[in-house]
Amino acid sequence: MQKTIVSIVGARPNFMKLAPVDAALNTRGGFRHLIVHTGQHYDYEMSKVFFEELAIPEPHHHLDVGSGPHGEQTGKALTAIERVLMAVKPALVLVYGDVNSTLAGALAAVKLHIPVGHVEAGFRSFDLSMPEEVNRKVADCVSDWLFTSHPVCDENLVREGAPRDRIFMVGDTLIDSLQSALGRIRALDTPARMGLRDGEYVVVTLHRPSNVDDRQSLAAIIAALGEAARTIPIVFPVHPRTRARLREWFPDAFAGESGKGGGPMLTDPLGYTQFIRLILGSRAVLTDSGGVQRETSFLGVPCLTLRETTELTYTTIEGTNRLIGKRPDAIADSIRAALAGGRPAVRPIAGFDGHAADRIAAILAERL
Ligand code: UD1
Ligand code: UDP
Repeated sequence: MQKTIVSIVGARPNFMKLAPVDAALNTRGGFRHLIVHTGQHYDYEMSKVFFEELAIPEPHHHLDVGSGPHGEQTGKALTAIERVLMAVKPALVLVYGDVNSTLAGALAAVKLHIPVGHVEAGFRSFDLSMPEEVNRKVADCVSDWLFTSHPVCDENLVREGAPRDRIFMVGDTLIDSLQSALGRIRALDTPARMGLRDGEYVVVTLHRPSNVDDRQSLAAIIAALGEAARTIPIVFPVHPRTRARLREWFPDAFAGESGKGGGPMLTDPLGYTQFIRLILGSRAVLTDSGGVQRETSFLGVPCLTLRETTELTYTTIEGTNRLIGKRPDAIADSIRAALAGGRPAVRPIAGFDGHAADRIAAILAERL
């Protein structure tokens, strides 16, 4: 008898983590895997493009929850997920990462006494002002299967009292996706099509509320990027949260000076393969994204992280990540330093071996 597993996803970073798990469960057989999309992210370039590029099947249920304040968004997702789970009665619910859809999925399942598996359990920034820290801690607390990406996550969970027999260090499914798409990605000519040369530009992505929802912070970032763009071309695919803040507070920022020695080149969010091709060819990446800190470490691209803390401390030790804090002068200085330095050597990082999802499927096949 096939066991039904429901994966709950909703936001951009969930999709790259889901893709290899879906493939591994289907390849192994013995499972009926259903995908529920909460609709937390809904623009084509924040959602559907990843299903197309990563060959993820069309979700079986679309909940169309949309945007809103945390309580409202999480509450709507909780209500809608509960309805699906009551009808489907799966043997297991899988949730991914640390977004509001992760929290809603975990809560809906545990209240219905359905076992929960958390893919990317145990990451901790130890900063509860980040909504993601709340989401991941609660999801871990109610999960029966804690699938971790790096040994540091196991240590975090054990320190919090999680039973050891619930923790499975499987590796990073985000890097599984990257490894399997890398051949295709290398063949793309994304930089050239944007008028850029490999090794001669910087990529920026920013969406953390602490950076972009704080007017002073955003003003400082705009000024620093403007300055840095005088020394090297900067490409900035703009997240919708950031786009909304720029439109509201600084509608003239970067106006009339795009690229080519002027200001940063702003684009819509990019599809996965184009985005990774862009960071692969870049001299350095400036970001506050969790996924990008890991992807740059895997690819050996210097990463400057515009945050005071990171849940991905190992990328600063084993990888290419540097926390530069939030001082505006640090941005231009760090970009200058990165341009002066060479390309760091790529070192093997625990969990970055491309087989995390296979391990998840194997563990579930044996024990579920
Ligand atoms: C969410 C996650 C964050 C993750 C990020 C990845 C939470 C609490 N936050 O943040 O952890 O790093 O996704 O990208 O779950 N919007 C659109 N189109 C869309 C989606 C959003 O225009 O398709 C706009 C809306 O104005 C919305 C805003 O972006 O209010 C923020 O979206 P939301 O999902 O609430 O948070 P993110 O900042 O995307
Ligand atoms: N990403 C993308 N296009 C972009 C920006 C990011 O495909 O324009 C990918 C990126 O490679 C990574 C994922 O989106 O795989 C990370 O998502 P995001 O930064 O939105 O969320 P976080 O990882 O911070 O939660």
